[in-house]
Amino acid sequence: LIKIDATYAQCAMTQNGDCCQMKNSTHFRPHRAIDPGLEGVIAAETKLSDVDGNAGRLIIAGVDVAALSARFDFEDVLLMLWDGAFQDLPSRPQVQAALGRARALAFDRLLKGRDRRPAMEALRQALCGVEDGDGLAVALDLVATCAVATAAITRHGLGLPLIPPDPSLSHGEDLLTMIVGHTPSRAQVRGLDGYLVTVSDHGLNASTFAARVVASTQAGLTSAVVAGLSALKGPLHGGAPGPVLDMLDAIGTPERAEAWIEAAFARGERLMGFGHRIYQVRDPRADALEALIAILPKNLGRLEMAQKIEQTALKRLSERYPHRALQTNVEYYTALLLEALQIPRAAFTCIFACGRILGWIAHAREQVATGRIVRPQSLFTGALRPDYAA
Ligand code: ACO
Repeated sequence: LIKIDATYAQCAMTQNGDCCQMKNSTHFRPHRAIDPGLEGVIAAETKLSDVDGNAGRLIIAGVDVAALSARFDFEDVLLMLWDGAFQDLPSRPQVQAALGRARALAFDRLLKGRDRRPAMEALRQALCGVEDGDGLAVALDLVATCAVATAAITRHGLGLPLIPPDPSLSHGEDLLTMIVGHTPSRAQVRGLDGYLVTVSDHGLNASTFAARVVASTQAGLTSAVVAGLSALKGPLHGGAPGPVLDMLDAIGTPERAEAWIEAAFARGERLMGFGHRIYQVRDPRADALEALIAILPKNLGRLEMAQKIEQTALKRLSERYPHRALQTNVEYYTALLLEALQIPRAAFTCIFACGRILGWIAHAREQVATGRIVRPQSLFTGALRPDYAA
């Protein structure tokens, strides 16, 4: 399974050529090993990101995540991920201007219909308002709407007046300004941009897979993005960073960590911000985000406390699961970084969506270009009713 044609992935796993040869016959059946989590099954080819879970290495748009996080902003990474996805991609300044205009239009549309649902549900509703299509205008509208709606939903939830977008600002600076209500420092803007590009893509994670499945039916970018957002909402995927802060608040001080973790294990709970299906070592995004927090000097106290609690959690996880490397994942430092940027925790998953939306769109375009609908097989384990058996 090192490098094989995705079409034959299932057959290669059986190390048996029979099913390959029968692939086009009506008798073709997939190999019978079942994994409901599709672990190790290659379901797509992608040029967008490469997740090496053994080495703890992540490449997004050809750049190692540490360099991407430190040096590039949202508009840069939009152009890098969408290169090849759209024929009419404009230049860097034109993209910034187009996104600014799109945010202004999204804000007008949002003012017409507001409600008080949980943040991710309200964001899903806002994205559903973007007319479906496959072109660059729809893609930019989705990115702009995600940012404007995230900020508006967050302030609305706090009972604060909405801040309209400023099309002259970069996307990251405008998003942060619309949320916090004042001009952020350069370090804060760098912190948010670094976050957004760090999470912009991550191989075939659950939300990206959902977006690709929907895109493969040629339903359009809005439908694909709404599918991705719906998958991201769950606590096992994008819903973890808010609960990470709840956990740190409940632990209180590093000295209490061991006892708190024991009690959590006894209740059958998982430690939020730890463990990953792919990474067997530390998630490289955790380091990239930790470095961004360190440029926000006021928050070093909370960072130091969280680092000590992290060490205790890692020790207890390795003792409890000696055969399964459960390491810190991206969500642990996401929670600390977004908190340091004064973003309310109710908005964390929406902010995640504001970054990952670049990847969902790029993957949707990549999937459509294959011309293939995603349609895996299942293994029938039921029984024929005796009366109807042939
Ligand atoms: N805390 C305690 N125990 C854990 C944790 C954790 N964070 N993660 C896994 N385990 C346990 C499982 O319960 C399982 O134990 P069991 O065999 O006794 O049932 C064992 O470790 C092995 O689990 P895995 O197969 O490695 O977990 P899986 O790949 O199915 O799940 C997941 C990965 C969902 C991320 C899991 O580690 C988890 O729930 N983490 C906490 C939530 C979290 O941080 N989510 C964000 C993930 S990052 C992202 O999506 C952007």
